[in-house]
Amino acid sequence: MCGIVGVLGNHEAAPILVEALKRLEYRGYDSAGIATINNGTLDRRRAVGKLVNLSDLLVHDPLLGKSGIGHTRWATHGAPSVDNAHPHQAGPVAVVHNGIIENFRDLRSELAEAGIRFVTETDTETVALMTQRYMSEGLAPVDAARKTLSRLEGAFALAFLFEGEEDLIFAARKGSPLAIGHGEGEMFVGSDAIALAQMTDQITYLEEGDSAVLARNSLEIRNEAGEIANREKRQIHMDQAQIDKGGHKHFMAKEIAEQPTVIGEAVRHYLSNDGKSVALPGADIDFAGIDRLVMVACGTAYYACMTAKYWFEQLARIPVEIDIASEFRYREPPIPVRTLALFVSQSGETADTLAALRYCEGKADKIVSVVNVPESSIARESDLALPILAGTEIGVASTKAFTCQLTVLLMLALKAASDRGEMSEGEIAATLGELQTLPGILNAALEREGALRASARKLAEARDILFLGRGLMYPLALEGALKLKEISYIHAEAYASGELKHGPIALIDKHVPVVVMAPKDGLFDKTVSNMQEVMARNGKVLLITDSDGASEGAQGVWDVVTLPAVDDVLAPILYAIPAQLLAYHTAVAKGTDVDQPRNLAKSVTVE
Ligand code: G6P
Repeated sequence: MCGIVGVLGNHEAAPILVEALKRLEYRGYDSAGIATINNGTLDRRRAVGKLVNLSDLLVHDPLLGKSGIGHTRWATHGAPSVDNAHPHQAGPVAVVHNGIIENFRDLRSELAEAGIRFVTETDTETVALMTQRYMSEGLAPVDAARKTLSRLEGAFALAFLFEGEEDLIFAARKGSPLAIGHGEGEMFVGSDAIALAQMTDQITYLEEGDSAVLARNSLEIRNEAGEIANREKRQIHMDQAQIDKGGHKHFMAKEIAEQPTVIGEAVRHYLSNDGKSVALPGADIDFAGIDRLVMVACGTAYYACMTAKYWFEQLARIPVEIDIASEFRYREPPIPVRTLALFVSQSGETADTLAALRYCEGKADKIVSVVNVPESSIARESDLALPILAGTEIGVASTKAFTCQLTVLLMLALKAASDRGEMSEGEIAATLGELQTLPGILNAALEREGALRASARKLAEARDILFLGRGLMYPLALEGALKLKEISYIHAEAYASGELKHGPIALIDKHVPVVVMAPKDGLFDKTVSNMQEVMARNGKVLLITDSDGASEGAQGVWDVVTLPAVDDVLAPILYAIPAQLLAYHTAVAKGTDVDQPRNLAKSVTVE
């Protein structure tokens, strides 16, 4: 979603703001803008498109001043245009905003009735105009902003800058995260700590409902009730390497390549000291006391849940219900006793997933989350938050977070199998032994990149592509299709192989490549039969399999990519690599923007 940054510094603010916005550009990027105060006067620059357009504008038309706010936008209300770009200014107030003001139409009518004119189509302008109005009635800037806040409904993060106030930023969080950064006689605010990484590693996270008055040498935080709140200042270990491309052309390429390392770390984190069982550091879940699991997520994280359903059901014999959060939250599902609710989210801030979690509060026996950002709202509102330890993920298309989610969920399923007596100690130890060899196997899969690049160049010619998979490969097929459409903009759909003949087979002709993910497992022969059905209709099959699968099933296929053999249960983690690399190289071949695909945002903090 939109990214927010604010600076009360001792140097020119504009370059610092632009640098911070670069770090936030992954959140949203249809337009960007900054506002600063120079000699008491508020001024701003805004540009449509990539951040580089704003940088170029600032070269020709610089903005001076040591205090400022900035924004990258992911449009919700109003098309991307200079007028609709943030910061929005109304007289002495400039404001940047992430989220949605749900009652903005009512507020807008109220302002319109008072004769106030609007120049944008955004909900944010209402905030600026309302604050201006309260200031014109005599309220001091912070009081006017607070009064405006009390009128707002929805989920948002806001930062305000006021004319004549060179040592003041007012910030507020309700539903969307905000981090305050402490410098030496400087103070910063940002949508996340990544934005502030260049300036400071001393971070205070605002909590839900908090508002903050920032000055260079002071910070006052109040909770929703208006009481002074003490929020911990933490030192954040933001490894610079995690937010650089590290020699790769794209963040996505770097994040794909990091998977053997981060998965190895995740496995070690959840292994007992003797390496023979699963241990949850600092907490426990007794799966023997649970009758049912409900797993909820969005996007790629949902496909991780879908994969985990197979693991929990097959290994631990626990009935599992999965749902996408935007449906779950409104369909009012009954949550019987002895239900564990599990939420999976890379960012930990996805609005629908957070709302689904809140729905389960007081209903489920326990709320557990599997997250990449330990300070996130979803982590903080769970009874137990299990980190996936993927490190910062910048590429909008999730890669390493997905495989780390899978790794942690598989280990949880093994723990469940052990608690419920469905697998013996020996079986668990053997599977964990295999899991520890996975980083090496993933490295071998990454070496297949050349073959996958060659296949991707052929896929790049297609207009429509189908993905097929059966059993544990079905969610992987869905993830492969999602990755491909996200970054290459090629229409891709995935089906369970057995469903092909119930409709999708009508789409098959010589122009439609069909990517089949099929390790040589117990279901392989059935998938090969489905492949034959495709080829009999002139469909072009790209088979991704292991060497046994290739020698048995590759006759007549258009293309085949061979992966190392792996224990059946681990196959989804391995087969994520070709799914990701195919999408990546198809996008590169098409020349699309891999790390910042059009219309998408990394962290979706609106409904
Ligand atoms: C967005 C991202 C996806 C992600 C989904 C869920 O759509 O572009 O990559 O899978 O949100 O995000 P979460 O942070 O909850 O995993």
